[in-house]
Amino acid sequence: MDDRQKIGNLPIEKKADLLTGSAFWQSAECAEIGMDAVTLSDGPHGLRVQDKMPNHLGMGTSCPSTCFPTSAAMACSWDTELGEEIGKYLGAEAAYMGVAMVLGPGLNIKRSPKCGRNFEYFSEDPYLSGKFAAAYVRGIQANGTASCIKHFAVNSRERARMVYDCRVDEAALRETYLTGFEIAVKEGKPAAVMTAYNKVNGVYCNSNKHLVSDILRGEWGFDGLVVSDWGGTFDKVSSVKAGVDLEMPRCKFSKDEVIAAVKGGGLDEKLVDDAVARQLAFSHAAQKVKSEDVDWIAHSRFARRCAENSLVLLKNEGGVLPLKKGERVALIGDFARRPRYQGAGSSLVNPTFVDSIFGEMQKSELSLTGFARGFERKGGESKKLRSQAVKLAKNADVLVVCLGLPEGMELESCDRRHIELPRNQLDLLSALRPLGKKIVVVLSCGGVVDMSWDENCDALIHAYLSGQSGGGAVVKALSGEINPSGRLAETFPLREEDVPCHEIYNKYPYKMDYAEGIYVGYKYYNALGVPVKYPFGYGLSYTTFCYSDAALGSGGAYVTVSNTGSRGGAAVVQMYIKAPRPDLEHSPAELKGFKKVFLEAGQSVRVFIPFDEYSFRFWDKSKGWVEGGDYTVFLGENSRDFFFEGTVNRGKAIEGEGKKLSYEQYFNSHISPVEPKKSHKKGGLEATLMTEIYDLKYCKGFVARLFAWIAGLYSRSKDELLSNSMTHLPIRFILLFMKYDSIQVQGFIDACNGHFFRGVRKILFKK
Ligand code: BGC
Repeated sequence: MDDRQKIGNLPIEKKADLLTGSAFWQSAECAEIGMDAVTLSDGPHGLRVQDKMPNHLGMGTSCPSTCFPTSAAMACSWDTELGEEIGKYLGAEAAYMGVAMVLGPGLNIKRSPKCGRNFEYFSEDPYLSGKFAAAYVRGIQANGTASCIKHFAVNSRERARMVYDCRVDEAALRETYLTGFEIAVKEGKPAAVMTAYNKVNGVYCNSNKHLVSDILRGEWGFDGLVVSDWGGTFDKVSSVKAGVDLEMPRCKFSKDEVIAAVKGGGLDEKLVDDAVARQLAFSHAAQKVKSEDVDWIAHSRFARRCAENSLVLLKNEGGVLPLKKGERVALIGDFARRPRYQGAGSSLVNPTFVDSIFGEMQKSELSLTGFARGFERKGGESKKLRSQAVKLAKNADVLVVCLGLPEGMELESCDRRHIELPRNQLDLLSALRPLGKKIVVVLSCGGVVDMSWDENCDALIHAYLSGQSGGGAVVKALSGEINPSGRLAETFPLREEDVPCHEIYNKYPYKMDYAEGIYVGYKYYNALGVPVKYPFGYGLSYTTFCYSDAALGSGGAYVTVSNTGSRGGAAVVQMYIKAPRPDLEHSPAELKGFKKVFLEAGQSVRVFIPFDEYSFRFWDKSKGWVEGGDYTVFLGENSRDFFFEGTVNRGKAIEGEGKKLSYEQYFNSHISPVEPKKSHKKGGLEATLMTEIYDLKYCKGFVARLFAWIAGLYSRSKDELLSNSMTHLPIRFILLFMKYDSIQVQGFIDACNGHFFRGVRKILFKK
C-alpha cells in the first residue's frame, strides 16, 4: 500500500487531528502511516531550543547556541555566499540539537523603519531579500535540515499584528512583497513556508487562497509544507481550503471544526489528505538528517567573520579611521561594555559566549586610556555619567563613542514610536564635541535611526546587531586589521517624515493602506528626488575603487573594478534597472543584480552581473507580468551614485491606459475609505472565536467583560511586549494556549454571551 492509500484509509477523526502539531514545538505524529513527530525551532540567526516553558515570544530559557549576526546585519555584507555559509552553521547546530526544521529566515520587507522586527529581516528591497533568503535556505538545508521561510506575506508592522488588514494592490503585492519570497522559493527550495499573522486584502494570510494556493503552490510550484505562525490560524476550515498543512502549536479543538466541515460537505476530504501527505513527506525527509558534533569555538569565530563583513562605514572624515598606532583612545558608552547584539522576541538566542568592544579593545594593540558608561541605557538624565565621560575624554586623542537603541526599542510585537536615538545619548555626544577630539561613533541597533546628529562625529560605523562576536569585529575595523566592506540594505532618510508610508503606517490599528505601493525605500526617494541621509547600497572603505570599461552584453553587464588605494578591500558593484512603465510618471530604478569582490591593493578584476527572470518584468494590472520597451541599466556604487548608464531593448513597449499618474495621484488612488469605527452597543456583540479580546467588553456575559478588563490592565502595563501581545488578539488565540478542547471552547463562548452556567458546565465537565 502506498502512502496515499494509507492516508486514505485513516478515519477522518484521525486525519483531522494530524493537521495540528503534537506539542508546542513538534509536528503531528501517526504510527499507522509511519509519521514521526519532528521538532521545529526558531530561528533566523541562531537556534532557540526550549527545554522548559515553551513560548513563542522569547521568554524564559533556551539551550545555548551560537548567536550569529541578525539578518539586518548580514544583508549589509551583500555577500550571499556568506549567507549560504551561515545557513550551514545554523543547519549543523539544528541537527546537533535534534531540530528538524529551522523557523527562518524571515524576509519581510522593511516598509517603515519603525517596525519592531526589522532587525530580523534583510532589506527594504525584495531582490536583495530574496537572494539572501535563498542563500540561507540552501545553507540550512545542505545537511537535510529543513528551512521554513517566513512570514508569508506583507507583514510589515508589529502593532496589532494579529488583526490588521494590509490593503495592497496586486502590482505592489507582486513586485514588492512577494518577489523576495518567489526568489527564495525558486532558488532556495525551502521545505516549508510560514504564513503571516496579518490579513491581506481582507483575508487572513493563513486562510488566503490567493497567496497560498494560487501563487505559492500554483504559480511558483511549491510542493512543500505550509505552516501557520504560532497561534496564527484564525479559521481552521478556510485555512485547510487555502492549502495550509500544519497548524502550530498544538490546537485541541480545531480537529472538530475539520470533522464537522468534512461531514457536512463544506470541506473536500481530499484537501485533508493532501495536507497529511505533505506532512508525511516532510517527516520522512527529516529522518535522513545527519547530526555531527558542533565545534562551538569555530562557530563563534565564524560569527565574527560574518560580523566583520557586515560592518558599514558611513563616515570617515579626515581618514580618522583606522586609528593610528599610539593614539590614546577613550572608550565611551554603555554599549561598549554591555553589547547589544540581537533583538528580542521569538528570535532571542541564548548565546554560547558574548564578546564586547571593551573586552576586545583591552586585548588589542590600541592604546585604551579607559572606559566611561556616559549614559543610562534605559534613558534619563545622568549628569554624573556624562561628566565622567567628559573627564575621561580630555586625556585622549580619539573618542570611540558606542551608541545604540536600548533593548526595549527593538522587539517582536512592538513598533518603535519614533526613530530617534535616546536623548541622553545625543546629549552626551553634544557634550563631547566641544572638546575638539576626534570622535568615532559605533552604532548598535537593528535598523534605521535618525542620524541628524552625525555632524557631531568624524567617523561612523553602523554595526547593526552583529551577533555574539560582533565586538571583536568592531575593534578589528577600528584598528585597521580589517577593512569595512558593508553597504546599507536600507535607506537612512533625512527625517522620519520623509518615509513614504509615514502618515499612514500607524494611522489605524486594523487597517493599513499600502498607498505608496511599489515606492518603498530607495525606489521612492530616488524616483522622486527626495534627499536622504545615507542612500540604499551606501558604504565606505579604507581603500578606493575605480570602475572602467563598463558595457552591456545580451546576458548582462560588465565592468572592470580596480583597487586604486593602498590596502585590500571589497567593492560591491550594484546593477539597477529602470523599466519603461506606461502608467507611471516616475519609474523607479530597481536593484536587479550585485556582486561583491575583494581586491588587493592595485588589483583589477572584470565583473559580470547577469540579467535574470526578474530583471525586466513588471506587473500590469490587466496583463500580469509583462516586459517590453527600452530599459535603462545603471551600474553604481550605491543606489544614487552611478558610473554607467546604458539601454537595453526588450521588444515592443507595453501600452498603458493613456494617462501617466504622478506620484501624488498614484498614492491617493490607493487610499481606501476611512476605517469604519466599530460601533458595538454594550451587551450587543455576539462573541465568536474571532472576537478580539478588546471587544469582549461589548458582549453580554460578565465573563467577557472580565476578560476585557484584564486585557485593559495589560494594555496599560509598562511592559509593551505584554500589552501589545495581549490586547489585539482574537480569542481563538487565547483558547488555543489554554489548551481547551472544542466543548470547552464552546463553553467559553457561551459564557461570554451570557450563558454563564451552561458555559461553566462545558468548561469544567466537558458536557
Ligand atoms: C513569530 C514567529 C516564530 C514563532 C515561534 C511567532 O510569534 O512570529 O516568527 O517563528 O512565534 O516562536
